[in-house]
Amino acid sequence: MNKIIDANEFIRRNKEKLNQRYRLKYHLMGEYGWINDPNGFIQFKDNYHLFYQHYPYDAVWGPVHWGHAVSKDLVKWTYLPVALAPDRDYDRDGCFSGSAIEKDGKLYLFYTGNIYTEKDKNNNYKQVQNMAISEDGVVFEKYGKNPIIDVAQIPDDASKKDFRDPKVFFIDDIYYLIIGSNDTNGHGQVLMYKSHDLEKWEFVNTLIKGTEETGTGWECPDIVRFDDKDILFVSAQHMRHNGSYFKNIHASIYFIGELNADEGKFAYTDYYLVDYGFDFYAPQTTVDKHGRVIMVAWMNMWDTDMVTNSLGHNWAGAMSLPREVVKIGEKIYFKPISEIAKYRKNEYSLQGIELNGEVNLETNGICYEIDVEFEPQNAYEFGVKVFKGKSEETVLSYNCRERLFSFNRDRSGIGPKGERRAEVELIDGRLRLNIFVDVSSVEVFINGGEKVMTGRVYPDSQSVNISLFSNGLCKVVNFKKWDIGLE
Ligand code: FRU
Repeated sequence: MNKIIDANEFIRRNKEKLNQRYRLKYHLMGEYGWINDPNGFIQFKDNYHLFYQHYPYDAVWGPVHWGHAVSKDLVKWTYLPVALAPDRDYDRDGCFSGSAIEKDGKLYLFYTGNIYTEKDKNNNYKQVQNMAISEDGVVFEKYGKNPIIDVAQIPDDASKKDFRDPKVFFIDDIYYLIIGSNDTNGHGQVLMYKSHDLEKWEFVNTLIKGTEETGTGWECPDIVRFDDKDILFVSAQHMRHNGSYFKNIHASIYFIGELNADEGKFAYTDYYLVDYGFDFYAPQTTVDKHGRVIMVAWMNMWDTDMVTNSLGHNWAGAMSLPREVVKIGEKIYFKPISEIAKYRKNEYSLQGIELNGEVNLETNGICYEIDVEFEPQNAYEFGVKVFKGKSEETVLSYNCRERLFSFNRDRSGIGPKGERRAEVELIDGRLRLNIFVDVSSVEVFINGGEKVMTGRVYPDSQSVNISLFSNGLCKVVNFKKWDIGLE
């Protein structure tokens, strides 16, 4: 039995059974069934390649494969055949997350093989690191000597079970591989390995250790190097709640610091949330041929209701809009990739409006971008409502007194509810929002991407209106809306 052929055949035979209602129009999803983390994100030859954790047979997580799509512009994606299936002893219960690198014109994938060791799967498993190679970026051959890193190479003070999600990168002629781990006492950590040939790996050090605050285990580590600072990303399980922040059970966070690759140490000063919304996990970055650092994440969250599965729509999971990661001064910004602008259609604009109360706009939709700048006068609260209907609305608002921006989905429709907040300061008295709405997703880039909030919502098909509102006087300096259309 060839599990890749089986998976592709199954998808081909079943994809007509998808319920399209909440399918997104300009975000990548699986062709059928379940997807989670982005994997192997890379620009290889003429295409951006994005792989993803994929269980094609049902809209729930199961023995994961690597789904695969390519794009020239990070917006319009074409599906390729499933790239990896769990078909060997060393990955028989799942080809877990990992990364890609190009060497001598070939594409190398690094991924975790998940293996259950006894019936009680929650507690009895091991995870090893594997490699697969492709000449053409379509068909992958698993390396003959997998695993490339086995359980015996895990240091003593690290979990022998949770050892997953290799990210490979290259510095000064040496390949490094960082991997998610925990110290078995409820703290996340990242382990670092090195290699000269991608085949033989040696342990360097525990790169960074978390605290009581930063979750019980770390997944999907990633690193981005800027001229004078390095950024380390991890997906932290069971983050502690902290005031308005870290309300999600799990969170993607980043540390700003310095990597010492020789010693395998990452010294940091502080950490932050990558996204202040509800649904953004397991982000992965790549540096493209223009030198841009681009990030994509799973636009869902573990341990929350997957609405499209509950509804029987035969799919679950989507990718975020790719974001550019930019360092400006000492701060990290996340910006929507510029390519999205070429899909703008039907511009609608307003200028110099004095808002006091709520105004329904003469435009609507479920698939669009908004760029708006507010200048509050004596308003204490103002914002935008999207997916507005008879009794539904998704509210994006700023509270001037508390200096908090909120994304509220209590009345968004069906699905998980709640509010997420982010501390935001006005810039020269103004708040700028760049909002991306796509059928069942909302991504808000605040003040040029200083903070971002992402969430999934499942409104009624009649809830298509948009309004601007203010309690007290607020100027809308500029408002633009474009439909986003890929056809
Ligand atoms: C993160 C994660 C990874 C793992 C994958 C399994 O979302 O738990 O640690 O490799 O999902 O699908």
